[in-house]
Amino acid sequence: MKIALLRERHEGERRIALAPKECATLIGAGLSIRMEAGAGSPASLPDGAYADTGVEVVPNAEAAVAGARTIVAVRWPQLIGSGALPDALESGWPEEALFVSLFGFSPPPFEVIARRGGSVLALEHLPRITRAQSMDVLSSQATAAGYAASLRVATHLPRFLPMLTTASGTVAPARILVLGAGVAGLQAIATARRLGAAVTGYDIRPAALEQIRSLGAKSLEMPAEGEDAEGEGGYGQALPEDAQERQQTFLARAAADFDAIITTAQIPGRPAPLLLTREAVEAMRPGSIIVDLAGDSGGNCALSKAGRTLEIGGVTVDAPLNLASEVALNASEMFGKNITALLRHLGVADGEIRLDPGDEITGSLLRVHRGQKRGEGWES
Ligand code: NAI
Repeated sequence: MKIALLRERHEGERRIALAPKECATLIGAGLSIRMEAGAGSPASLPDGAYADTGVEVVPNAEAAVAGARTIVAVRWPQLIGSGALPDALESGWPEEALFVSLFGFSPPPFEVIARRGGSVLALEHLPRITRAQSMDVLSSQATAAGYAASLRVATHLPRFLPMLTTASGTVAPARILVLGAGVAGLQAIATARRLGAAVTGYDIRPAALEQIRSLGAKSLEMPAEGEDAEGEGGYGQALPEDAQERQQTFLARAAADFDAIITTAQIPGRPAPLLLTREAVEAMRPGSIIVDLAGDSGGNCALSKAGRTLEIGGVTVDAPLNLASEVALNASEMFGKNITALLRHLGVADGEIRLDPGDEITGSLLRVHRGQKRGEGWES
């Protein structure tokens, strides 16, 4: 069975869905892989490294998909059903092919795939269960994003992160607050700590507060009013409106104490909770920065604009949309490991891919099965 590995078309995207090591694993399991030339270059993975593992490097996407049964990508929407590819290529997609990718929340191009009897595994729908952890691209990429967010703070701030004792005196460490201590938040905390900053974390789940402290950071706690919001699967859940307002007031007061705030709060399937109001931004000192990771789901900061860096009263409000791409090499390696684990789960070791909609993991990911739609959000 043949897998096609294509260059990502999304603007600014530097990752690739499989690094050479994972290609070697899949080829060892009896698959063949054809890659569009140059697909790994933006992640510093040259064609030669792929060719050495037995990947066939071909000049263009048309040649890569010809005869493929499975097509893997990091992000799909820009690639198919969006006009990004020539019509001839789009109608040349192999019939009944399986597409494995993140599809994002913009109109998914499933219609095009369904018409040709194809199947779709949309990676954002992976259930957060222990058995699926090794396949979880959202978590691996959130780890990369959390790391990159702290580096962004470090390069932006007009001050050192660590405490320095020098002949010119002692410099106090920068103070960083991380809101939301899930995967991205905990990695942001760990990274900022390693860089020497004085880090404080905040979350609505008590378990997350413990994790914050276990990383050596302080935890910020809102006076208890029963707002523990641990939802299903260990995710947070939305706070009632009055609790949200109390939270915003509390955080607006806290914000003044920090040089940087990284926000990563999310509730699955809902707009990002609003944590930082205009008052919170105005309370911060000039030269401070807010890095809002939730930009693509509405933002945790009232003033952030997805994909833009604004300066408001001397405070930078930054809402980058693809931080994982800034560490494209490791992010691609992790993504590839996740994909490989998923393909193995599907039964790729036999040289074929099985799609069992009754399996909890496959069933959750499967949005189109042999041309038939499944799940919600399909028709948008
Ligand atoms: P996660 O679900 O692991 O963590 C989110 C955390 O937010 C949870 O611990 C939850 O309890 C907390 N939370 C929810 N409501 C809250 C509230 N009102 N106050 C405080 N905490 C609250 O999610 P993960 O994987 O860490 O992703 C975090 C965010 O980062 C998501 O919005 C995701 O889309 C985004 N992200 C952004 C990237 C970028 O480049 N901009 C890249 C990767 C992820």
